[in-house]
Amino acid sequence: MTDRYGVIGHPIAHSRSPQIHQLFASQTRQDLSYEAFDIAPAELEDRVLELADEGLRGLNITVPHKTAVLELVNSLSERARRAGAVNTLLFHVDGSWHGDNTDGVGLLRDLAQNLGIAIADRRLLVLGAGGAARGILPELLAGAPASLVIANRTLLRARILAAEFGDLGPVTACGYGQCGDEPFDLVINATSAGLHGELPGFPATIIGPATTCYDLSYASGDTPFVAWARAQGAAAAHQGLGMLVEQAAESFFLWRRVRPDTQPVLAALRAALAAG
Ligand code: ATR
Repeated sequence: MTDRYGVIGHPIAHSRSPQIHQLFASQTRQDLSYEAFDIAPAELEDRVLELADEGLRGLNITVPHKTAVLELVNSLSERARRAGAVNTLLFHVDGSWHGDNTDGVGLLRDLAQNLGIAIADRRLLVLGAGGAARGILPELLAGAPASLVIANRTLLRARILAAEFGDLGPVTACGYGQCGDEPFDLVINATSAGLHGELPGFPATIIGPATTCYDLSYASGDTPFVAWARAQGAAAAHQGLGMLVEQAAESFFLWRRVRPDTQPVLAALRAALAAG
């Protein structure tokens, strides 16, 4: 019998997850289907219950439900608990629901395996202190950076995150005006600002000729942050398509215990994005 999976979000029409998981399934010869479900926040609990009753085996969770789903699960992985967000749900046969979060590991795999970017002993700057930043901080700190600075428009949110993750490594907080004069080794954009086409006033001093930049967002062309980083003379600037595919691969592994090869899927996705 074909096992059913899906992704829930609102809106969801532009999600690449169905394409990614169908490519994983055909590559690994797994008999599964994967659908996108548009679920408004007010209907979340009822609709997820319905999907579980219909026999779905698991779900990916995307904006705006990643935090709300925390309340629905029977058990939670340590990384999902630390991230304060769930992006992968497993419906077990005994009726229990398990929540996990593969975003951080997805980013780390893209950095380390696809792009060859080291974290250990490097000076890291994370721009933004919302849910996206929270989701990647545990894994980034586990990579043993020399330091990790969280910069945010609203300084208090950055301070709260730094305090919350201080037990995991050398993390501090600042506003965009107080990032110092020394360029960072790796700058990660975890703000949602670029999604609306604009960029906050990030200081140019954070970027030097040896700085690598990474945007958690992706677009068919350069994202605003990638374009800005290049204009500042960054050594390299990448967008988050690789993270998207890697977090999906980790979800697929949690569900199926089979690890797909991400490279051909990333190539197919790049081609699809370029074709519009
Ligand atoms: P997400 O889950 O995508 O991280 P979020 O929790 O709403 O969403 O956080 C969005 C992040 O983008 C925050 O760091 C936010 O800054 P504030 O905490 O100061 O709101 C940042 N952000 C969004 N739009 C922005 C803008 N126009 N300028 C600067 N920062 C912006």
